[in-house]
Formats: sequence, structure tokens, C-alpha cells
Amino acid sequence: MDKMKQTEEIIEELLEQLTLDEKIGMIHGNGLFQTKGVERLHIPPLKMSDGPMGVRNEFEKDNWNSVGNTDDFVTYLPCNSALAATWNRKLAYRFGKVLGEETRGRGKDVILAPGINIIRSPACGRNFEYLSEDPYLTGQMAVPIIKGIQKSDVSACVKHFAVNNQETNRLCVDVEVEERTLHEIYLAAFKEAIMEGKSHAIMGAYNLLKGEHCCESEFLLHHILRQEWNYDGCIISDWGAVHDTKKAAKSGLDVEMSVTNNFDEYYMAEPLKKEILEGNIDESLINEKVRNILRLMERLHMLSGKRARGYYNIPKHQEEALAIARESIVLLKNENNRLPLCEDKIKKLLVIGENANKIHSNGGGSAEIKALYEISPLMGLKKRLGGNTEVIYVNGYYVEPKMEENDANWQETSLEDALLSNRNKEISLETKVIRDLYLKEAVEQAKRVDEVILFGGLNHDYDSEGIDRDDMKLPYDQDRLIQEVLKVNPNTVIVMVAGSPVEMGEWIKNSKAVMWSWYAGMEGGTALAEALFGDINPSGKLPVTFPNQLNDCPAHLIGEYPGGKKVSYREGIQVGYRYYDTHQMDTQFCFGYGLSYTEFAYKNLSIIANENEDVSITVSVETTNIGCVEGSEILQLYIASKNASVERPLKELKEFQKVLLKPNETKEVIFTLDRKAFGFYDVNTKQFKAESGRYEICIGSSSKDIRLQKIIELNNTYYY
Ligand code: BGC
Repeated sequence: MDKMKQTEEIIEELLEQLTLDEKIGMIHGNGLFQTKGVERLHIPPLKMSDGPMGVRNEFEKDNWNSVGNTDDFVTYLPCNSALAATWNRKLAYRFGKVLGEETRGRGKDVILAPGINIIRSPACGRNFEYLSEDPYLTGQMAVPIIKGIQKSDVSACVKHFAVNNQETNRLCVDVEVEERTLHEIYLAAFKEAIMEGKSHAIMGAYNLLKGEHCCESEFLLHHILRQEWNYDGCIISDWGAVHDTKKAAKSGLDVEMSVTNNFDEYYMAEPLKKEILEGNIDESLINEKVRNILRLMERLHMLSGKRARGYYNIPKHQEEALAIARESIVLLKNENNRLPLCEDKIKKLLVIGENANKIHSNGGGSAEIKALYEISPLMGLKKRLGGNTEVIYVNGYYVEPKMEENDANWQETSLEDALLSNRNKEISLETKVIRDLYLKEAVEQAKRVDEVILFGGLNHDYDSEGIDRDDMKLPYDQDRLIQEVLKVNPNTVIVMVAGSPVEMGEWIKNSKAVMWSWYAGMEGGTALAEALFGDINPSGKLPVTFPNQLNDCPAHLIGEYPGGKKVSYREGIQVGYRYYDTHQMDTQFCFGYGLSYTEFAYKNLSIIANENEDVSITVSVETTNIGCVEGSEILQLYIASKNASVERPLKELKEFQKVLLKPNETKEVIFTLDRKAFGFYDVNTKQFKAESGRYEICIGSSSKDIRLQKIIELNNTYYY
């Protein structure tokens, strides 16, 4: 019997035997991270866990106290924006594989990851959990993550569907976005995740779209997901995102989860049962939900067959975390080959800045991790230098202690408190005095050593769920510190650790070397030390634009961010580089940017276009490593529509490939394009349309550094 038929038969057989109470138990939380099983029929509870950087610590079933055992330390993976900076689909698969194995290893069924919302503004507190401002790059990385996760008989749960692009008013903000933009920018990667990645589960978002809460939206859940995308997987609500029994029941949502422990009172619990018994809601709707849940369970071999076993904290996972961290580092500036450093010349190394010494894994909101270990940059450097260099550490900048320490877990009250600010608004006199002292100490020391590395950036008080940033400025008076240190030691190497762009205003001009690291997982410090000393060659490229300032960002400039109760995405399709490019805006660093310790030359662009039934275009180009060290280049293929019938961005990313090249080595890189590379969402036909006309194929090293281009012509119009 074929597998699908068998699955559906198992489902129907079970469904027939289930009582209404049992079915109701399966479709809502009966614990903070699990539903109710049906023991007599061997249906287990569905166990879920955050999140995107590793499997979260164990909570009590019905309260937010950590269980506190020693068995829930885990592998801490680099955050999603770090992974996206690798532009490496294979690494994305390996990332997913680790996450899936750890999820299974910890006895869970669904991992609440990956976060794939489009990065609309640098201000969004959860950007570090997301991949990119570009839907193509997001989709290309999301699909292998999901496939990797699901290899271990656990389910991915892509989130947050949809248009969840800010934290301010996240529970109640109503997004207005026109149809084309919705499909082309905000739904595109979700479509890939569902149709290509085959994510068994998806999480609805907190916010509203067109006046409807996303977890109750017939348009999103029923029309788009179920009908257009033929989705037969499981739709899970965000924690506390349901507000109405009837709407949720009818929308296509399968499981309601929340943060409170009054499980029987959830909208899809007793209140739903009452509506059914009173005849206001048809039981067939509940059956549909149960079918989807059972189908998910059967796919994970929870009901029949042999389930894969998992692993957590195995050395292989730590190696994978390191491999990703290595490729995620982005070299932003390297005047006169200031980097890599040469250890033989350094007797005394001064390391400045709290981010050199900071553990980030335990913060950020639901993405927090109880990491088995986390190598800080300071430890990474000391490990690398092996005692032969004296490493002096000073704080450099002062981070005030939290305003008020609250014993309760933030998530317990997350539906009442709009946000959980850990940031002090007023800077006390005491803080000012300490900052001056720290700065003076750093400056004095910087005069006396052979080499200085200054680690700054953000932390999870800024890159955090539940709160956005007000601007892109560096906190804790870091600008002043960096300027002053650069004055006495112009060779100082600057390393930024953050999940979102920061303004590097004045000091970037005076600095010679700037390296960017994200929250790079448990081996982040090891990877940074290796990159600083040239054991590895940085190869990451920015998955988001770094604008000069927050107000350059189109969401802020044309659209609204964060808006009030409503937010209007008036910038339309002009998100990220689409806007900066089209309007020739200057940026700090453009999308796709990143340097290497070597250089690459591009030549021989050739294009063979074929149009029979479908579009089939083969683009080939040669790239040569013209420097002295081995390195990886990410070749980016953008397409510019030359005579479009609708507004189109100047160019759009449609393919990319990463190649490793030895010095003097040349490789031919081949891209194949089909109709999907040319389309826009056509509101008239409600389909994507690749219209006939002229297109420029551009091959670049970044969105601004286009090396080769050629015009081709599509003779026919195609829909998809
Ligand atoms: C977040 C989700 C998370 C859930 C469970 C919510 O606050 O938005 O991303 O998976 O909590 O912790």
C-alpha cells in the first residue's frame, strides 16, 4: 500500500474511535509546550520546544519555572542571521540536521524554528532570529534548514506566519500591506518553506493582517495555506495569539498554545466544546484539525513505524556550530591588509569591551539557550594564543545592571506587558563616572601594548523578542570609547558582535579593520580568533543592508515603523536593497557585501537561453582567486527588468553560489534559471508572471559591486 494511503487510513481509523473530549484535548495546550495525548489509543502528547539556536531549557509542565536539572544543556548554534551570512545552503542543511537531532535527542516532536520573517527594518528586536531582508535568500536558506531538521523524525515549525516584522505592539498591531507586496516579499519564503521545504508545521503570528489576527485569519490560514499552497501540515498558534473561539475554529488553525496554565479555558478547549455541543460549530471542523495533528504524528513515526533516534551535545554538533560560525564572519573593512594579525609580533594584546567577555546564549527571549558552553571572544583569543602572548582585558564600556530584577519568567506575563525593557532610559551620575573611568583605563592601556582589539556591538537587551530598538546607535557610549581608543592607537581592530546593523558613523572612517560577528553560537569566540589571526579566511556576506541611519530605511522613510495600532507598509516591494538600489541611496554597507583576505576576478560571462515549454537559461561565469591565500567567494546573480509593465526594483537577487578557491585557481560557476527568476506577483491574474521583454543578468560580488552583465530577452510571457 502506498505510504500516503496508509497514513490517511491510520488517521481515519483513529479519528473514528476518538471522543469529542479526546479530540478537544489534542487541539490545545495541556502544558506550556505540549498537547494532551490519548493513552488508550496510543496517541502521545505532541511535545514542542523553542527555538532557532538550539533546544530551549526544560520548563515545568504548567508553570514557567525551569526544571533546573543538568540534562537540558544543549548545543548552541549561531543565530539565523549568522547562518544567512554564510550564504551556504549546505551549511543550512547541516545546521538543521544538528537542530533536528538535538530536538529528537531531547525527546521533543516539534522545534519552533526557523524564524523566517523578512527583516523590514534594522530596528526589529528579533532580527537575529530571522534570515534576511531578501525573500529569495530567506527561502533558499530556510528550505535546507527544514529538510535538515526533519531528517530526525521531528518537525520544523516555520514562524511567524505572517507579516510579523516588528516587536512594538506585536500582540495587537494591524498590518496593512498591498497584495503584490504581500506575495512577493512577505509570503514568498513561507511558500518555499511549505512547498519545497515541506515543513510539517507552521506557527501563526501574534499580529493582525487586514484587521484579522493571523492565527484566526481565514485568508492566511485557509485561503493561502490550505487552498493555494495545498498545505496538509499542522498550523500551531503563537503562544497566546488566539482571541476568539469561533474564528480560530473556522480559520484552519489546528493547535492553540498559550503562556498561561488555565488550559481548559483556552479558546479551543472548553469554550469550543460548548460551541459544538450547542450546535454553533460543526464537529467536522475539529475532525479536520485532529487529522492534521495525526498526520504530523504519523509523518514523525509517532504512531507507527520506527522513529529515528536523536543525539545532543555530541562533539559533531559542536564542530558543526564552529563550521557555521567560521563562515558567518563578515569582514567589513581591512585597509592596507591590517588583518590578519601575526601572533609572533604580539607580546602584549589588549582586549577591550564587554562583548569580548559576554555570554549571549541565555538571552533574547524565547530563543534563549542553556548552552553546554559558550566560547567568548576573549576565551577564543586566549585559546588561540596558547599563553605565549600576554592578553590584558578591560571592560572599556560599562553596562548598567538591570533596572529591576524580576523573579518571574518574562514569558509568564508576556501577554500583559507590552515589552520587557532591560534598558535604562536615564543614565545615572554613577554610570557616567564609571564610564569615564573605564574609558580612561582603556585609553591608557591602549598606548602601552603591541596590539588592540576592541569588541563592541549589541547584546540581547537590544536584540530581543518583545522590544524594538529606537535607533541604530551603539549603546553604552561605545562611539566615544572607540573614537578615543583609535586616537591613541589607530591600528586598533574593531569587532562588532550584534544581530542587527549599528551606526558606525564617525569612527568607521578612522578605523583600519572592522570585523562583524553575529551571535555566533557556542564556538563563536573560537571562530573569531581564527579569523583575526588568519587561520581561516572570512567569507560571510551581509544578508541585510547596513543603512547609514535608521531613517534611511524605507519602512521608516516611506512606510511606517513601528506605526500605532495600525502599520502601513507603504514602501511596498521596496524593502532593503531593492529600495537603496532603486533610489541610489548611499549605505554604510550594501546587501551582499563582505571582504576576504584574498581577491577574486570575474570573467567570461556566457548565457544560453532556451525557451521551449519553459524558460531554461544557463549562465556561466569564471572566477579566479587572484590573491595569495585560499578563500571563498559568493557569486550573486541579480536580474534587472528593463521594460517591465509594472514598478520593479532596480534589480533582484535570483541566484547565488559559494565557491572555494586556492590562490590562482579558476572555477566555472553555472547558474540555471527558470521562469521563477523573472516574475513579479500579478494582481490581475493572482499569479506570478514572468513577462516577455528584456532583462539584464548581473553577476556581482555584492549588490553594488556588479562585475559582469548581459542583456537577454524573454520572448514569451509565463505564469507560475
Ligand atoms: C514567540 C514564539 C515562541 C513562543 C513559545 C512566543 O513568545 O513569539 O516565537 O516560539 O513564544 O516560546
